[in-house]
Amino acid sequence: MLDKIVWDNSYVLGVDEIDSQHQHLLALINYSIGLVQKMKPAQELKESMLSIRKYTIWHFKSEEQLMELYDYPGLVNHQEEHNDLLDSLKEQLLELDEHQIAKYNQIHSFFIAWFGGHSFGYDREMCTYINLQRKGLE
Ligand SMILES: [Fe+2]
Repeated sequence: MLDKIVWDNSYVLGVDEIDSQHQHLLALINYSIGLVQKMKPAQELKESMLSIRKYTIWHFKSEEQLMELYDYPGLVNHQEEHNDLLDSLKEQLLELDEHQIAKYNQIHSFFIAWFGGHSFGYDREMCTYINLQRKGLE
């Protein structure tokens, strides 16, 4: 059984709106993991997955708008990463057999791994840049 993720300071990137969105995203994932742990009905699980996807789409748009606002040079690559994740998530959700708990665990693990890698790499770089811009130093 998959464990929930605990938010700690290592996730903080220093751009408040992004940090709170990331926190909310992890809360949605934890909620969904909790449904699996409590063996809740398939319909609830599927709905939680759809709300993770919906919020992720919104969150990515929000990051992309910030990158545009500050003329971030890495915007195109970062956006590609976002699109790849959304494509892959969509594919996995289409394959989802509502009665296979293992598949939900697989999607949760996939998402957590992706989030960790992306936020420690791409997002950290973007936030460092945005912070410098906001301080008028770049
Ligand atoms: Fe991102």
